[in-house]
Amino acid sequence: MAEARPRVHREVVSFVRRSSRMNPSQQKAWREHADWVIRVPARDTDTSVAPDAHLDVTDAFGREAPLVVEIGGGTGDVISAVAAKHPDRNYLAFEVFEPAVASTLSKCARAGVDNVRVVVANGVDAVATLIGDRALTELWTFFPDPWHKKRHHKRRLVSRPFADLVAAKLADDGVWRLATDWEDYALAMREVLDEHPLLVNRHDGWAPRWEDRPQSRYEAKGIAAGRTIYDLCYGIREGGRR
Ligand SMILES: C[S@@+](CC[C@H](N)C(=O)[O-])C[C@H]1O[C@@H](n2cnc3c(N)ncnc32)[C@H](O)[C@@H]1O
Repeated sequence: MAEARPRVHREVVSFVRRSSRMNPSQQKAWREHADWVIRVPARDTDTSVAPDAHLDVTDAFGREAPLVVEIGGGTGDVISAVAAKHPDRNYLAFEVFEPAVASTLSKCARAGVDNVRVVVANGVDAVATLIGDRALTELWTFFPDPWHKKRHHKRRLVSRPFADLVAAKLADDGVWRLATDWEDYALAMREVLDEHPLLVNRHDGWAPRWEDRPQSRYEAKGIAAGRTIYDLCYGIREGGRR
């Protein structure tokens, strides 16, 4: 008799599970730069992270340097460009979609960078499990999936529980950079982050566009559709951690 499969509890996640089929150039990048992809044990689903998983960041990059994490970087437009501009920092990407990760690897290779590593995993799990408290110089969440329908708002990445997690992981002088082209999500982000006791808005309202951030694929789509881009930037409130 066939063994009963354990039931996998499907938690609410901020992404849609998609086919991981890659085109030939993505397959090539995946093969050629496999050493930039860090494997971590999963809990149940492929993109989950086992609660006892460990990442030795110094070992992964072969050096100690300020750590920048991006969640949901898509095809790597931003991380490849910024990592090239700041070779003195370590850049770690958490992205669930393998073909996008392959494109990120290929962009990093073209940019000539060696300071980017990628983990194919849910960034929420990954930040919670793999990143030490106060270890982040920067966290980026640029153009997260908007989840328009009200009944889907619980799937949005930027939420109070996620803000609690980020607040624990940011260094005292660390920053959380966000951007979106959806006004209602931008306003929801402001509401969650402005009322967080540990976080402080680094600007008076919306942040100016971060000059290092090149236009990503999703940003370009938003602009082409006539939408306004909203940038946000938060840090840790002075004395907030006492
Ligand atoms: C709308 S796209 C934006 C991509 C990119 N930031 C850009 O501006 O082009 C959102 C990306 O986030 C990824 N994603 C969504 N939730 C995620 C999560 N919890 N962890 C890791 N990646 C996630 C998706 O696979 C997708 O590539």
